Amino acid sequence: MRHLLSTLDLDADTATELLDTAAKLKATLLGREVRKLPTLRGRTVVTMFYENSTRTRVSFEVAGKWMSADVINVSAGGSSVGKGESLRDTALTLAAAGADCVIVRHPASGAAQRLAHWLSDNGTAVVNAGDGTHEHPTQALLDAATLRERLGDLSGRRVGIVGDVLHSRVARSNVHLLRTLGAEVVLVAPPTLLPAGVDEWKVPVSYELDPELPTLDAVMMLRVQAERMHGGFFPSAREYSIAYGLNEARLRMLPEHAVVLHPGPMLRGMEIASAVADSPRAAITQQVSNGVHVRMAVLYHLLAAGEGHE
Ligand code: CP
Repeated sequence: MRHLLSTLDLDADTATELLDTAAKLKATLLGREVRKLPTLRGRTVVTMFYENSTRTRVSFEVAGKWMSADVINVSAGGSSVGKGESLRDTALTLAAAGADCVIVRHPASGAAQRLAHWLSDNGTAVVNAGDGTHEHPTQALLDAATLRERLGDLSGRRVGIVGDVLHSRVARSNVHLLRTLGAEVVLVAPPTLLPAGVDEWKVPVSYELDPELPTLDAVMMLRVQAERMHGGFFPSAREYSIAYGLNEARLRMLPEHAVVLHPGPMLRGMEIASAVADSPRAAITQQVSNGVHVRMAVLYHLLAAGEGHE
């Protein structure tokens, strides 16, 4: 694996290998007082975030540090990007300064792909940490890791992805990966929050949540991305909450074993009731902690696999 840009790049064997590596790393570090492995000593990982983030940025930094990499965080505000430097020049500068891996979040769909193209000659790996409305592959991997822990093999499991599919890179990455791993996916959203080309995703679509709930092994609630809705928000927050919000009554409509996921950040009370988000049925903090191990696995496969490390 040279870069991680899209879950479409992962076949079932590669995805399973990444998830198995993450599970092994989690088991290795569990209960250790010092969570530090020497695997990436001498390697430099740069995170370059042009959009806000808490979970992805922190967990990549923790992942790199737990593997002994030197981790440097660059933000648009505190770098020469603020003086007008282009993405290409910034990336070439980071590579020239010794970055082995650049982890990028950018508001433009396709930015990570361009970065990988510009850095193709100097051996710097690129990880897409979320590009516009396009993809967020490590989020899908950590979601799959969490579902595997809760449900076992994902083959034949049915996962509902609910809400603002139109603006969701999480939805697109999950659709590809879950299908690769043998799961069925149904998208549930109001027509106004579905992309025009959703037929090409080749998954069933429903405008109504309630009839789907009893059929699901997992329900993944999406964040409503108001920052990408420059023309206003329809349905209104209140209408959305009534039709699609995961409240306690809807939680009872799910099978007892069904898992509740949310990539975060959550809009409590609108997308998901606090009583549901904080219930044992929800795996939201488990998703965050699996995010560290999945990102360790990704860094390992990009920077160290094949070098004889344990
Ligand atoms: N899920 C996710 O990407 O969260 P952040 O925006 O906080 O990184």
